[in-house]
Amino acid sequence: MDIARIEAIPSVKPRVFLEDMGCQMNRLDSEIVLGKLHQAGFQRVETTDDADVVLYYTCSVREHAEDKVFGRLGSLKRLKALRPELVIGVMGCMAQNHKERIFERAPHVDLVCGTSRFEDVVDLLEEVRHGERVLAVDRRELKFDRDISVRPRRFQAFITAMRGCNKYCTFCIVPYTQGRERSRPVSELLDEARRLVDDGVVEITLLGQRIDTYGQDQRDGTNLALLLHRIHEEVPGLLRINFITSHPNFMTDELAATIADHDRISRYLHLPVQSGSERTLKAMNRGYSVDEYRAAVARMRARVPDLAIATDWIVGFPGETEDDFAASVALQRELGFHGSFVFKYSPRAGTRAAELEDDVPRATKEARNQVLLAEQSAMSLAQHTARIGLDLEVLVEGPSKRNAERSMGRTRWNEIVCFPAREEAVGRMLRIRIERTTALTLHGQPI
Ligand code: SAH
Ligand code: F3S
Repeated sequence: MDIARIEAIPSVKPRVFLEDMGCQMNRLDSEIVLGKLHQAGFQRVETTDDADVVLYYTCSVREHAEDKVFGRLGSLKRLKALRPELVIGVMGCMAQNHKERIFERAPHVDLVCGTSRFEDVVDLLEEVRHGERVLAVDRRELKFDRDISVRPRRFQAFITAMRGCNKYCTFCIVPYTQGRERSRPVSELLDEARRLVDDGVVEITLLGQRIDTYGQDQRDGTNLALLLHRIHEEVPGLLRINFITSHPNFMTDELAATIADHDRISRYLHLPVQSGSERTLKAMNRGYSVDEYRAAVARMRARVPDLAIATDWIVGFPGETEDDFAASVALQRELGFHGSFVFKYSPRAGTRAAELEDDVPRATKEARNQVLLAEQSAMSLAQHTARIGLDLEVLVEGPSKRNAERSMGRTRWNEIVCFPAREEAVGRMLRIRIERTTALTLHGQPI
């Protein structure tokens, strides 16, 4: 046991620095970690220099976030040499993905904690305090007993409706880092939503990798439509209910009807398509054809004509030709998406696609990325321009990032609206008359 280390760690109000990178689920999990640490008496600090414990909570869907963390770990080496008592931890999907390889690449890391053990962070840090290097990546049942009071915005919260993914798209690491699909019971989610509302929340976002498969693992007829309906009816304090992310194979009439019939469910669907090429979709194991994707969109729009559908694209998947890419561009135009998140393919070790040659040059990936973004930008500008002159309900979120004299909020279609600052209205609905727009942001005046 390393005595010097134990004594060097202050026993009162240890200070923790936590940085999260990546998807919403990693973000929520990192909030849950902060909640646990808060309850155990830790104090959050803003710089690594001030910290006794430095944690990186990281997603591993793309190479970029992981590279960033390895970079951060590299620059912590000096600090650790100066203060050997400093505890450094890597958590989340990245930890689950690399396991002990993180210790090999960054020997000054003390804790590697994966996606089934983050709730035990306090005990794990205690083990580290006793001089051990800790690897916690075994699979356990999560308890979901979060401290709901810890969250970045008072009136907004994420809720994990389900974890894991059974789809195994060939490019995707998530099934390996998050495991099989497990849905939480409706009663537990209702209870969490109610407690959040009692604590000031008016907007929730239900999270799941394929949120529209919610309930399938329970085999009792529960599904996303029923869950949304019950939250809508039984938690009246909510002004807006969002859910992400959807897979095209589960766009049912029942789900469409539920969105249409429930006022406070947002009219925003995140429905990744990934590619418009039949061949590429097959190689990705997405489980639908281009026509089936079209049909899913049509089914939802038939019942909810104003539904805003945003999508994800991967450019430069192995073997993607100019023709494959042209099919993506054509589909993007045809379906008139309200948002496109474009990702340049990066191989993730352990996935099936990683066995294929990553043969699309980086410059080509970048060029294709720009084409889809430019096309989306033009479509978004046209969609936004059609909003000019309308009075839209906007849920106020806070100050605009670019201009402190303005506030920003979102419509039920997930559009960003900026208007003269109304900080007293944060967390409330305002009616805003839209006066002008860019591809990214609507601008208007409260009425
Ligand atoms: N269903 C999940 C998907 C997680 S990954 C969700 O909740 O969003 C998010 C997006 O990252 C995917 O839709 C895909 O477009 C992109 N992505 C996943 N793996 C990738 C990879 N290896 N390279 C590039 N982009 C990837
Ligand atoms: Fe990933 Fe495909 Fe599941 S993108 S999260 S394996 S639906």
